[in-house]
Amino acid sequence: MELKIEYSKDPLAKQKLDALIVFVLEDSDLAVSGLKALPAPLKKNITTSLKLKVFTGKKDKHQQLFSGYANIPQILAIGAGKKDELTSETIRRAAGKAGKLLSVLKANKVGFVVTSVLQNASDPDIGQVLAEGLTLGSYEFNQYKESHNEKSKPKSIKILCCDPESLTSLRALKSGKIRADGTNMARTLGNTPANDLKPKDLAAEAEKIARQHKMECTILEEKEMKKLGMEMLLGVSKGSREPAKLIVMEYLHQKAEQTVAIVGKGVTFDSGGISLKPGKNMDEMKFDMCGAAAVLGAMKVIGRVNPKINIIGVIPATENLPGGDAQRPGDIVTAYNGKRVEILNTDAEGRLILGDALSYVVKEFKPDAILDLATLTGACITALGHYVSGAITNNEELMEQVRKAGITSGDRVWQLPSYPEYGESIKGKYGDLQNIGGGDSGTIVGGLFLEHFVDKTPWVHLDIAGTAWNVKHIGYQPNSGATGVGVRLIVDLMQNWKPLN
Ligand code: BES
Ligand code: MG
Ligand code: ZN
Repeated sequence: MELKIEYSKDPLAKQKLDALIVFVLEDSDLAVSGLKALPAPLKKNITTSLKLKVFTGKKDKHQQLFSGYANIPQILAIGAGKKDELTSETIRRAAGKAGKLLSVLKANKVGFVVTSVLQNASDPDIGQVLAEGLTLGSYEFNQYKESHNEKSKPKSIKILCCDPESLTSLRALKSGKIRADGTNMARTLGNTPANDLKPKDLAAEAEKIARQHKMECTILEEKEMKKLGMEMLLGVSKGSREPAKLIVMEYLHQKAEQTVAIVGKGVTFDSGGISLKPGKNMDEMKFDMCGAAAVLGAMKVIGRVNPKINIIGVIPATENLPGGDAQRPGDIVTAYNGKRVEILNTDAEGRLILGDALSYVVKEFKPDAILDLATLTGACITALGHYVSGAITNNEELMEQVRKAGITSGDRVWQLPSYPEYGESIKGKYGDLQNIGGGDSGTIVGGLFLEHFVDKTPWVHLDIAGTAWNVKHIGYQPNSGATGVGVRLIVDLMQNWKPLN
């Protein structure tokens, strides 16, 4: 369902709508929820419902009520939780829940009431957070269903202000919509099955975004990778007939002080290669390009919000398949930066393709900082589950900025230790490095492998294996499928960038 967000400053009493959505705080009355100004007939049934404790405003709960008021016959009350627990993120989640309910609500003209209680609890402006939550929550991936052809009409929602203190702006609403649209684009790339999303399709997507937003986009083909000596990336691609692509996008701002590279893992399907994965849930390995999707979604948003910084978006894109020409365990390849790497498990392919992409961006662009995003290790799900991405860094100052962007965006991150002892296990027996360690602390080891390819550049690696799909119990996340994690984090990081020393 496509969502259109409008804004009206006309008072509630003048509105004619099929339904109105309101947020109600837990165990309080309508005054505390900032809803005193609602037309009286609308308040009546909610008040009764609250009194009888049929609906208490608990988060994740909602109630649909009928008002008997001809101008606004239906109300959807959404539980916003406790007043002292209101934050941008809890509001975003409640708005996400409202977005999900929009598709089942039998209503064409829907209004949403903003209150000063919400406005005061939110930084950034409430309009941005609401537009984000509503747009993210109403996301559906149904292109492959017959019912999709029955034309799902776009819905529109009108944002209304309850009192002068709750006034938001069209600008804030637009900014939230743009960020959520970029996230939804990343979700769709993630959800698209691997037979319809190949490395060449990621490249085409990058070229399209670059064209729309006047960025440079260069696609390195396998022939050029050979010349450059990117054997780690080429080695992974050997088992597939689909040629690998190294996608490089450049967003430049005239007033930029620094350049940041964002690098996303783009394995469009990870079978494991000769070190074949078990069959169970192997279909989920179509999501192994969610790091790439985050980069593309973020570049799309960046093209529309124009942060004052140079941003290089890089995606090594390939399939990882077994085949007559596939890379074998035991093979030794030479990386772009000259290091010799022994492949002990062909399923630890993300670090190989990222290694070449990282040393390439370091050499060609000399960025002031690098952020990479990758569905790198199953171990990250074991360690951290689905509610936070794992982080490894060589620079605490950069880490702090990424952590903050994680909180403001809702794409939270959690730093893992990276003491040098953890890196001992990937020192090579026959080469300089080997692509797996002994089995323990797999997420840290994977991150430390990457560190060998960034020189001294300040760098943060985000392992998004647990956060990229199937994240439950968050209002604005779909019940299954890709989340578009990373898009809003990257955008927040770039918009609030503080030059590193
Ligand atoms: N794409 C996987 C990581 C993954 C697995 C993400 C399951 C989400 C769910 C990655 O390429 C991989 O296979 N990693 C191996 C590394 C191991 C061989 C050191 C893994 O996690 O098993
Ligand atoms: Mg190939
Ligand atoms: Zn793998």
